[in-house]
Amino acid sequence: MLVERIEGKWIDVFARVFEMCAVDDTQSAAILSETQSRGTNVNLAELALDRLGVRPIHIVLPTLRQSAPVPVRSTGASDAIAGSPAVISALSAVDFVVDCTVEGLLHAPELPQILADGSRVLMVSNEHPEALERLMPTQDLEPKVKSGIKKLIKASEMHVTSAAGTDVVVDLTEAPCGGGWGYTTQPGSISHWPGGLCLAFPKANTVNGVIVMDRGDMNLTFKRYVESPITLTIENDYVVDVAGEGTDAALFRSYSDAWGDRDAYATSHIGWGMNPGARWDTLPLYDRSQTNGTEQRAFAGNFLYSTGANEHAGRHTLGHFDLPMRNHSVTLDGESVVVNGVLQGDLA
Ligand SMILES: [Fe+2]
Repeated sequence: MLVERIEGKWIDVFARVFEMCAVDDTQSAAILSETQSRGTNVNLAELALDRLGVRPIHIVLPTLRQSAPVPVRSTGASDAIAGSPAVISALSAVDFVVDCTVEGLLHAPELPQILADGSRVLMVSNEHPEALERLMPTQDLEPKVKSGIKKLIKASEMHVTSAAGTDVVVDLTEAPCGGGWGYTTQPGSISHWPGGLCLAFPKANTVNGVIVMDRGDMNLTFKRYVESPITLTIENDYVVDVAGEGTDAALFRSYSDAWGDRDAYATSHIGWGMNPGARWDTLPLYDRSQTNGTEQRAFAGNFLYSTGANEHAGRHTLGHFDLPMRNHSVTLDGESVVVNGVLQGDLA
Protein backbone atom coordinates (compact mmCIF):
# COMPACT_ATOMS: atom_id res chain seq x y z
CA MET A 1 0.00 0.00 0.00
CA LEU A 2 1.19 3.48 -0.87
CA VAL A 3 0.48 6.05 1.83
CA GLU A 4 0.39 9.75 1.13
CA ARG A 5 2.10 11.70 3.90
CA ILE A 6 5.02 14.03 4.42
CA GLU A 7 8.29 12.13 4.25
CA GLY A 8 11.65 13.79 4.84
CA LYS A 9 13.02 12.17 1.69
CA TRP A 10 10.28 13.83 -0.36
CA ILE A 11 11.10 17.25 1.05
CA ASP A 12 14.67 16.54 -0.11
CA VAL A 13 13.40 15.59 -3.57
CA PHE A 14 11.27 18.73 -3.96
CA ALA A 15 14.14 20.91 -2.68
CA ARG A 16 16.57 19.31 -5.16
CA VAL A 17 14.23 19.94 -8.09
CA PHE A 18 13.70 23.55 -7.00
CA GLU A 19 17.49 23.93 -6.85
CA MET A 20 17.65 22.61 -10.40
CA CYS A 21 15.22 25.46 -11.18
CA ALA A 22 17.88 27.83 -9.72
CA VAL A 23 15.74 28.77 -6.71
CA ASP A 24 17.69 30.38 -3.85
CA ASP A 25 17.06 32.54 -0.81
CA THR A 26 17.27 35.80 -2.78
CA GLN A 27 14.11 34.91 -4.69
CA SER A 28 10.37 35.11 -4.14
CA ALA A 29 8.00 32.21 -4.76
CA ALA A 30 4.31 31.35 -4.88
CA ILE A 31 2.58 27.99 -4.59
CA LEU A 32 -0.59 27.84 -6.66
CA SER A 33 -3.12 25.21 -5.73
CA GLU A 34 -6.84 24.57 -5.62
CA THR A 35 -9.06 22.81 -3.15
CA GLN A 36 -8.91 19.55 -5.15
CA SER A 37 -5.10 19.63 -5.36
CA ARG A 38 -3.01 16.82 -3.90
CA GLY A 39 -2.42 18.36 -0.47
CA THR A 40 0.76 16.42 0.22
CA ASN A 41 2.50 17.92 -2.80
CA VAL A 42 1.41 21.43 -1.76
CA ASN A 43 2.88 20.87 1.71
CA LEU A 44 6.06 19.32 0.32
CA ALA A 45 6.53 22.35 -1.93
CA GLU A 46 6.21 24.72 1.04
CA LEU A 47 8.62 22.73 3.22
CA ALA A 48 11.16 22.39 0.43
CA LEU A 49 11.10 26.13 -0.28
CA ASP A 50 11.50 26.77 3.44
CA ARG A 51 14.55 24.51 3.40
CA LEU A 52 16.00 26.71 0.63
CA GLY A 53 15.36 29.86 2.67
CA VAL A 54 12.36 30.98 0.65
CA ARG A 55 9.08 31.95 2.36
CA PRO A 56 6.44 31.44 -0.33
CA ILE A 57 2.95 32.85 -0.64
CA HIS A 58 0.12 30.34 -1.03
CA ILE A 59 -2.64 31.02 -3.51
CA VAL A 60 -5.46 28.53 -3.04
CA LEU A 61 -8.50 28.66 -5.27
CA PRO A 62 -11.76 26.78 -4.80
CA THR A 63 -11.95 24.20 -7.59
CA LEU A 64 -14.46 25.44 -10.18
CA ARG A 65 -17.93 24.04 -10.71
CA GLN A 66 -18.02 21.50 -13.52
CA SER A 67 -19.19 22.76 -16.87
CA ALA A 68 -18.28 19.80 -19.08
CA PRO A 69 -20.58 16.89 -19.95
CA VAL A 70 -17.93 14.34 -18.89
CA PRO A 71 -15.11 14.36 -16.32
CA VAL A 72 -12.09 16.30 -17.57
CA ARG A 73 -8.78 14.52 -17.16
CA SER A 74 -5.17 15.14 -18.06
CA THR A 75 -5.56 18.18 -20.30
CA GLY A 76 -2.69 20.26 -18.91
CA ALA A 77 -5.09 23.19 -19.31
CA SER A 78 -6.15 24.23 -15.82
CA ASP A 79 -9.17 26.50 -15.58
CA ALA A 80 -8.54 27.13 -11.86
CA ILE A 81 -7.43 30.77 -12.25
CA ALA A 82 -10.57 31.59 -14.26
CA GLY A 83 -9.01 34.81 -15.52
CA SER A 84 -8.66 36.36 -12.04
CA PRO A 85 -6.52 39.52 -12.43
CA ALA A 86 -5.56 39.32 -8.73
CA VAL A 87 -4.13 35.82 -9.13
CA ILE A 88 -2.40 36.64 -12.41
CA SER A 89 -0.72 39.73 -10.98
CA ALA A 90 0.37 37.89 -7.82
CA LEU A 91 1.93 35.09 -9.89
CA SER A 92 3.55 37.62 -12.23
CA ALA A 93 5.14 39.37 -9.27
CA VAL A 94 7.24 36.45 -8.00
CA ASP A 95 10.38 34.83 -9.41
CA PHE A 96 9.18 31.24 -9.12
CA VAL A 97 5.74 29.63 -9.23
CA VAL A 98 5.11 26.07 -8.06
CA ASP A 99 2.03 24.96 -9.96
CA CYS A 100 0.07 22.38 -7.96
CA THR A 101 -3.25 22.82 -9.78
CA VAL A 102 -4.99 19.57 -10.65
CA GLU A 103 -4.62 19.90 -14.43
CA GLY A 104 -1.57 22.16 -14.56
CA LEU A 105 -0.96 25.53 -16.18
CA LEU A 106 0.84 24.24 -19.29
CA HIS A 107 -2.01 25.21 -21.63
CA ALA A 108 -3.91 27.56 -19.30
CA PRO A 109 -5.12 30.71 -21.05
CA GLU A 110 -3.55 32.92 -18.34
CA LEU A 111 -0.06 31.42 -18.72
CA PRO A 112 1.34 33.94 -21.25
CA GLN A 113 0.42 36.83 -18.89
CA ILE A 114 2.02 35.07 -15.92
CA LEU A 115 5.26 34.45 -17.84
CA ALA A 116 5.39 37.88 -19.48
CA ASP A 117 7.18 39.57 -16.58
CA GLY A 118 9.73 36.80 -16.19
CA SER A 119 8.15 34.45 -13.66
CA ARG A 120 9.22 30.87 -14.20
CA VAL A 121 6.76 28.09 -13.50
CA LEU A 122 7.35 24.51 -12.46
CA MET A 123 4.23 22.45 -13.00
CA VAL A 124 4.31 19.62 -10.47
CA SER A 125 2.21 17.00 -12.17
CA ASN A 126 -0.60 15.60 -10.04
CA GLU A 127 1.32 12.44 -9.16
CA HIS A 128 1.90 10.58 -5.93
CA PRO A 129 5.24 11.84 -4.48
CA GLU A 130 6.58 8.29 -4.72
CA ALA A 131 6.40 8.64 -8.53
CA LEU A 132 7.91 12.14 -8.43
CA GLU A 133 10.80 10.78 -6.34
CA ARG A 134 11.47 8.00 -8.85
CA LEU A 135 11.21 10.44 -11.76
CA MET A 136 13.54 13.15 -10.44
CA PRO A 137 14.87 15.15 -13.38
CA THR A 138 18.43 14.46 -14.45
CA GLN A 139 20.76 16.97 -16.03
CA ASP A 140 21.76 14.70 -18.92
CA LEU A 141 18.22 14.72 -20.33
CA GLU A 142 18.25 18.48 -21.02
CA PRO A 143 20.65 18.49 -24.02
CA LYS A 144 18.89 15.47 -25.54
CA VAL A 145 15.44 17.07 -25.35
CA LYS A 146 16.87 20.34 -26.71
CA SER A 147 18.35 18.41 -29.62
CA GLY A 148 15.01 16.74 -30.31
CA ILE A 149 13.18 20.07 -30.27
CA LYS A 150 15.76 21.54 -32.67
CA LYS A 151 15.23 18.64 -35.07
CA LEU A 152 11.46 19.18 -34.91
CA ILE A 153 11.78 22.92 -35.57
CA LYS A 154 14.10 22.31 -38.56
CA ALA A 155 12.01 19.55 -40.12
CA SER A 156 9.30 20.11 -42.68
CA GLU A 157 7.76 16.63 -42.47
CA MET A 158 7.20 13.97 -39.82
CA HIS A 159 6.41 10.42 -40.96
CA VAL A 160 5.30 7.81 -38.41
CA THR A 161 4.91 4.10 -39.09
CA SER A 162 4.47 0.84 -37.20
CA ALA A 163 4.26 -2.87 -37.95
CA ALA A 164 0.69 -2.76 -36.62
CA GLY A 165 -0.30 -0.47 -39.47
CA THR A 166 0.30 3.16 -38.49
CA ASP A 167 1.25 5.34 -41.47
CA VAL A 168 0.74 9.04 -40.83
CA VAL A 169 2.36 12.13 -42.32
CA VAL A 170 2.53 15.56 -40.68
CA ASP A 171 3.49 18.74 -42.51
CA LEU A 172 5.52 20.53 -39.82
CA THR A 173 5.94 23.80 -41.70
CA GLU A 174 5.64 26.65 -39.17
CA ALA A 175 4.38 24.25 -36.49
CA PRO A 176 5.27 25.49 -33.00
CA CYS A 177 7.45 22.89 -31.29
CA GLY A 178 8.48 22.44 -27.70
CA GLY A 179 9.24 20.05 -24.94
CA GLY A 180 10.70 19.78 -21.48
CA TRP A 181 13.18 17.94 -19.31
CA GLY A 182 11.61 18.42 -15.87
CA TYR A 183 12.90 21.76 -14.61
CA THR A 184 13.49 25.31 -15.82
CA THR A 185 15.93 28.08 -14.97
CA GLN A 186 14.82 30.42 -17.76
CA PRO A 187 12.79 33.48 -16.70
CA GLY A 188 9.41 33.53 -18.48
CA SER A 189 9.24 29.77 -19.09
CA ILE A 190 7.33 26.74 -17.82
CA SER A 191 8.41 23.14 -17.41
CA HIS A 192 6.71 20.11 -15.93
CA TRP A 193 7.98 17.42 -13.56
CA PRO A 194 8.20 14.61 -14.56
CA GLY A 195 9.46 15.78 -17.96
CA GLY A 196 10.92 14.29 -21.11
CA LEU A 197 8.89 15.13 -24.22
CA CYS A 198 9.44 16.56 -27.71
CA LEU A 199 6.22 17.78 -29.31
CA ALA A 200 4.83 19.70 -32.26
CA PHE A 201 1.52 21.51 -32.48
CA PRO A 202 0.75 21.14 -36.19
CA LYS A 203 -0.92 23.97 -38.07
CA ALA A 204 -4.37 23.43 -39.63
CA ASN A 205 -4.76 20.84 -42.41
CA THR A 206 -1.36 19.22 -41.97
CA VAL A 207 -2.03 15.75 -40.48
CA ASN A 208 -3.15 12.82 -42.65
CA GLY A 209 -2.99 9.04 -42.51
CA VAL A 210 -3.81 6.11 -40.28
CA ILE A 211 -2.84 5.44 -36.67
CA VAL A 212 -3.24 1.94 -35.27
CA MET A 213 -3.31 1.71 -31.48
CA ASP A 214 -2.27 -1.84 -30.65
CA ARG A 215 -2.63 -3.84 -27.44
CA GLY A 216 -0.51 -2.23 -24.73
CA ASP A 217 -0.79 1.27 -26.15
CA MET A 218 -2.58 3.70 -23.84
CA ASN A 219 -5.37 6.18 -23.54
CA LEU A 220 -4.31 8.32 -20.56
CA THR A 221 -7.64 10.07 -20.15
CA PHE A 222 -8.97 6.64 -19.16
CA LYS A 223 -5.63 5.59 -17.63
CA ARG A 224 -5.86 2.20 -19.28
CA TYR A 225 -4.02 0.05 -21.77
CA VAL A 226 -5.70 -0.71 -25.05
CA GLU A 227 -6.65 -4.38 -25.10
CA SER A 228 -8.44 -4.39 -28.45
CA PRO A 229 -6.80 -2.53 -31.37
CA ILE A 230 -8.20 0.81 -32.59
CA THR A 231 -7.64 2.15 -36.10
CA LEU A 232 -7.90 5.93 -36.42
CA THR A 233 -8.28 7.40 -39.89
CA ILE A 234 -7.10 11.01 -39.95
CA GLU A 235 -8.01 13.46 -42.70
CA ASN A 236 -6.79 17.06 -42.52
CA ASP A 237 -6.16 16.80 -38.75
CA TYR A 238 -9.50 15.20 -37.84
CA VAL A 239 -10.08 11.61 -36.80
CA VAL A 240 -12.87 10.80 -39.25
CA ASP A 241 -13.19 7.12 -38.39
CA VAL A 242 -12.56 5.11 -35.22
CA ALA A 243 -12.57 1.46 -36.21
CA GLY A 244 -12.31 -1.43 -33.77
CA GLU A 245 -14.56 -4.05 -32.30
CA GLY A 246 -13.64 -3.81 -28.64
CA THR A 247 -14.40 -1.66 -25.61
CA ASP A 248 -11.42 0.59 -26.33
CA ALA A 249 -12.77 1.88 -29.64
CA ALA A 250 -16.23 2.28 -28.11
CA LEU A 251 -14.82 4.32 -25.21
CA PHE A 252 -12.86 6.49 -27.65
CA ARG A 253 -15.98 7.27 -29.66
CA SER A 254 -18.25 7.70 -26.66
CA TYR A 255 -16.06 10.17 -24.75
CA SER A 256 -15.17 12.15 -27.89
CA ASP A 257 -18.83 12.34 -28.94
CA ALA A 258 -19.87 13.54 -25.47
CA TRP A 259 -18.38 16.96 -26.17
CA GLY A 260 -20.73 17.57 -29.09
CA ASP A 261 -17.77 19.33 -30.69
CA ARG A 262 -15.95 18.06 -33.77
CA ASP A 263 -12.72 19.61 -32.44
CA ALA A 264 -12.56 16.87 -29.80
CA TYR A 265 -11.65 14.61 -32.75
CA ALA A 266 -8.93 16.95 -34.07
CA THR A 267 -5.16 16.61 -33.70
CA SER A 268 -3.78 18.40 -30.66
CA HIS A 269 -0.06 17.61 -30.44
CA ILE A 270 2.23 14.95 -31.85
CA GLY A 271 5.72 13.86 -30.85
CA TRP A 272 7.66 11.35 -28.80
CA GLY A 273 8.85 10.52 -25.27
CA MET A 274 12.43 11.13 -24.15
CA ASN A 275 12.69 10.05 -20.51
CA PRO A 276 14.75 6.86 -20.02
CA GLY A 277 13.72 6.69 -16.34
CA ALA A 278 10.00 6.72 -17.17
CA ARG A 279 8.37 3.37 -17.80
CA TRP A 280 5.57 1.96 -19.90
CA ASP A 281 4.67 -0.73 -17.39
CA THR A 282 4.11 1.20 -14.14
CA LEU A 283 0.51 2.29 -14.71
CA PRO A 284 -1.01 -0.81 -13.02
CA LEU A 285 1.16 -0.22 -9.94
CA TYR A 286 -0.80 2.87 -8.92
CA ASP A 287 -4.45 3.34 -8.08
CA ARG A 288 -6.05 5.76 -10.52
CA SER A 289 -6.24 8.54 -7.93
CA GLN A 290 -2.51 8.18 -7.33
CA THR A 291 -1.40 8.86 -10.89
CA ASN A 292 -1.84 11.38 -13.64
CA GLY A 293 0.00 9.23 -16.18
CA THR A 294 2.76 11.76 -16.86
CA GLU A 295 5.31 8.94 -16.72
CA GLN A 296 3.52 7.12 -19.55
CA ARG A 297 3.53 10.28 -21.69
CA ALA A 298 7.28 10.64 -21.24
CA PHE A 299 8.73 7.12 -21.45
CA ALA A 300 11.63 6.96 -23.88
CA GLY A 301 10.73 6.15 -27.47
CA ASN A 302 6.95 6.26 -27.24
CA PHE A 303 5.03 7.88 -30.08
CA LEU A 304 2.62 10.35 -28.49
CA TYR A 305 -0.42 11.36 -30.50
CA SER A 306 -3.09 13.55 -28.92
CA THR A 307 -6.54 14.71 -29.84
CA GLY A 308 -8.31 17.91 -28.77
CA ALA A 309 -7.38 21.57 -28.49
CA ASN A 310 -4.62 23.10 -30.60
CA GLU A 311 -4.62 26.87 -30.31
CA HIS A 312 -2.06 27.05 -33.13
CA ALA A 313 -4.64 25.56 -35.50
CA GLY A 314 -7.46 27.69 -34.04
CA ARG A 315 -9.18 24.87 -32.17
CA HIS A 316 -10.37 25.04 -28.55
CA THR A 317 -12.00 22.21 -26.60
CA LEU A 318 -11.46 20.55 -23.22
CA GLY A 319 -11.85 17.09 -24.78
CA HIS A 320 -8.31 15.71 -24.81
CA PHE A 321 -6.72 12.30 -25.26
CA ASP A 322 -3.00 11.64 -24.81
CA LEU A 323 -2.30 8.36 -26.60
CA PRO A 324 1.25 7.03 -26.09
CA MET A 325 2.11 4.10 -28.33
CA ARG A 326 4.93 1.58 -28.36
CA ASN A 327 6.88 0.07 -31.24
CA HIS A 328 6.50 3.03 -33.60
CA SER A 329 9.10 4.59 -35.88
CA VAL A 330 9.35 8.35 -36.39
CA THR A 331 11.32 10.10 -39.11
CA LEU A 332 11.87 13.84 -39.63
CA ASP A 333 12.63 14.66 -43.29
CA GLY A 334 13.85 11.07 -43.61
CA GLU A 335 16.07 11.13 -40.47
CA SER A 336 15.10 8.44 -37.98
CA VAL A 337 14.58 9.76 -34.46
CA VAL A 338 12.71 6.70 -33.13
CA VAL A 339 12.92 3.18 -34.62
CA ASN A 340 10.48 0.55 -33.34
CA GLY A 341 10.12 2.45 -30.07
CA VAL A 342 13.85 3.07 -29.55
CA LEU A 343 15.38 6.60 -29.55
CA GLN A 344 18.14 7.07 -32.11
CA GLY A 345 21.47 8.89 -32.29
CA ASP A 346 22.05 11.78 -29.89
CA LEU A 347 18.52 11.44 -28.53
CA ALA A 348 19.25 8.00 -27.03
FE1 LIG B 1 -1.68 16.37 -24.08
